[in-house]
Amino acid sequence: MDKIIIQGGYRLKGEVDVSGSKNAVLPIMAAALLSEEESVITNVPSLWDVHTMVKILRSLGAKAILENGCLKAKPGKNLKPLAPYKLVKTMRASVCVLGPLLARLGEAEVSLPGGCAIGPRPIDLHLKGLEALNAEINIEHGYVKIKAKKKLRGAEIYLGGGYGSSVLATDNVMMAATLAQGRTVIENAACEPEVVDLARFLRKMGAKITGEGSPRIEIEGVRRLHGAEHQVIPDRIEAGTFLYAAAITGGDVLVRKMEPSHLNAVIDKLHQAGVRVDKFKNSARVRKNGRLKPVEITTLPYPAFPTDLQAQAMALATVTPGISVITEKIYPNRFMHVPELGRMGAKVFLEGPSAIVHGVKKLSGAPVMASDLRASAALVLAGLVAQGATEVQRVYHLDRGYENLEQKLTSLGAVIRREKE
Ligand code: EPU
Repeated sequence: MDKIIIQGGYRLKGEVDVSGSKNAVLPIMAAALLSEEESVITNVPSLWDVHTMVKILRSLGAKAILENGCLKAKPGKNLKPLAPYKLVKTMRASVCVLGPLLARLGEAEVSLPGGCAIGPRPIDLHLKGLEALNAEINIEHGYVKIKAKKKLRGAEIYLGGGYGSSVLATDNVMMAATLAQGRTVIENAACEPEVVDLARFLRKMGAKITGEGSPRIEIEGVRRLHGAEHQVIPDRIEAGTFLYAAAITGGDVLVRKMEPSHLNAVIDKLHQAGVRVDKFKNSARVRKNGRLKPVEITTLPYPAFPTDLQAQAMALATVTPGISVITEKIYPNRFMHVPELGRMGAKVFLEGPSAIVHGVKKLSGAPVMASDLRASAALVLAGLVAQGATEVQRVYHLDRGYENLEQKLTSLGAVIRREKE
């Protein structure tokens, strides 16, 4: 297992390019299954999760080749309906093949994803939505078995529960509805940019979709979809991670190939924290702007502050004078970075879904353990500003979601290297 070693105390300076979005490309790859024909997807980041999805497509019988950020996927006529545990257990997003397989084949058998380091992540909403499209669902031997009763039929679906909306449930239902008979209305749909990107790809494949980006998406089913070409949107979470990396080191960084409007809530919180961020068309420049100030942040569905940047925002709060309060409303247990930040000298107290962060003058480098993707990113950020060396172990979490992170940080002046353990 690799580890990353960061020598703290260097201000980041320069320009960095953001890769294609992990959370946009994964459902788009699954959506390619909706047609027999070849789809060509570009700006695909080389990440573990993407390679896992390539394996899933192949195990379903599709041809899939990923080279230089370009994925060619040709599902052909002979798809299989089974996504096995061996692959699904390594990546929860595999569940988004459920909708496309059901729509193409009238049936699907997908392993339940199982445990997740950021807390319980049920798929009841996915199943509720697909059931409403006239499918029958059984859970047997750890697998979801789903079958269209006759043909999938469009329906009006309220896709909600006690929490906000669900990104991948919206994706699954939207994908299945593209080939259902008649009209589907998804109420309480997720509004995330990744859902919008998926809808755009589906429309290029011939789907009839309106309303994406709002809580009401309408889909008029069509008989068949064809292959399409699509360029994936930039990864707003990677972009946000670089904004925080620059802020925590008091640096001056131009983050390029990003979409600033996808990060309005985050940039607003950085301004409140006393960090200057100038937005341009496809880039944003972060600069130190005097003393850091404490903030209150609550994570919520888009367009509010994203849960996937909560840990990185906490890293900044740990070295901000005063008391910051960070409340996690999407995954109330997503605080595994807290004890690890504590090992570096951070003072963070958990009160239910809130973290009360008392800013300290200095963090000190220490060996720490990554537990999930974004927690790992937060530990790297803390390492950039800590005194001495920080060793982040279990780096495979980072490889799931950040393309060339060490190289990109090195190009900005960070002193960071990877070592085999
Ligand atoms: N939820 C349910 N039932 C469901 C589905 C969701 O209770 O059937 C709950 C979840 O437990 C959670 C909330 O609804 O409390 C929102 O979860 P959502 O379904 O929106 O999450 P997701 O679609 O499974 C995607 C991202 C996550 C990101 C969340 C929230 C992908 C592949 N994953 O997951 O990304 O945190 O949306 O924005 O798109 C990451 O990249 O590090 C990551 C975890």
